[in-house]
Amino acid sequence: KIENHLRPQLLKDYIGQEKAKQTLGIYISAAKERGDALDHVLFYGPPGLGKTTLAGIIANEMGVNIKITSGPAIEKPGEMAAILNNLQENDILFVDEIHRLNRQVEEVLYPAMEDYAIDILIGKGATARSIRLDLPKFTLVGATTRAGMLTAPLRDRFGVIHHLEFYTEEELTTIILRSARVLEVEIEEQGARELAKRSRGTPRLANRLLKRVRDFAQVKYDGVITEAVADYALDLLDVDRYGLDHIDRNILLTMIERFQGGPVGLDTLAASISEDAGTLEDVYEPYLLKNGFIQRTPRGRVVTELAYAHLGIGADGA
Ligand code: ADE
Repeated sequence: KIENHLRPQLLKDYIGQEKAKQTLGIYISAAKERGDALDHVLFYGPPGLGKTTLAGIIANEMGVNIKITSGPAIEKPGEMAAILNNLQENDILFVDEIHRLNRQVEEVLYPAMEDYAIDILIGKGATARSIRLDLPKFTLVGATTRAGMLTAPLRDRFGVIHHLEFYTEEELTTIILRSARVLEVEIEEQGARELAKRSRGTPRLANRLLKRVRDFAQVKYDGVITEAVADYALDLLDVDRYGLDHIDRNILLTMIERFQGGPVGLDTLAASISEDAGTLEDVYEPYLLKNGFIQRTPRGRVVTELAYAHLGIGADGA
């Protein structure tokens, strides 16, 4: 079970990702009507946008159990075989960071996804043979930051693939107001809106900032999150007007100060800020790209006018 009580449990309570929500609703109803397992689902996109939440909702709506694991957690083919064999009919297996499964483990999934079976090798040398073990029907829900990191045979076995998008300010405001109700904290519409503006389009961050701002409201004010309280707290938390944190700003500043605004290659930039290239690309870049702070060119990343303006630096570096 997924314990975080801020996560919605049903599709109707899930805000945003309209396309995923509508189509999943239909696939879930259809599968339930047939008494069948839902087809395998892949979610990809930046972290914190609701991949795990949606997996939990699918399980709830289907009325089945969910087993949660992750790519790096499963080291041996036998471990994957055991997990699959322990599922009940129509259960959900959620594999986070599914691109990080190793090759041998991934190969167990191919017949499992396609034929609900695993092939077990018995014996050695000339007498070795494989026997097929039937599995219960199940639904694999995979999550990854980039679909491009999956091997083609794995990606092709998902019947449903959804890219999760950053949330609009409107959607995040609604999510924050809902979370405030769940947490029983008083918040003004404008306070929620200020939080939404500064949450990087990401509900996970919005909920985290809401909890921190609540603490400020409680200790320094009369407990109500107003625009002024949100503003004050978020400034102290080093979250700026666009929701950029110190790492985002460091990326932009490094590009400007060390690389004259670019173009600079991903690996070079990652090394200069001591960040893993994959993390830079999957976690930090998407929001900076989406909001026009940086652009990708064939020769590397470049910062935009907006980045200079936002950091208060002239394009000449002054
Ligand atoms: N909490 C976190 N993500 C949410 C979402 N998409 N809808 C409603 N509440 C949420």
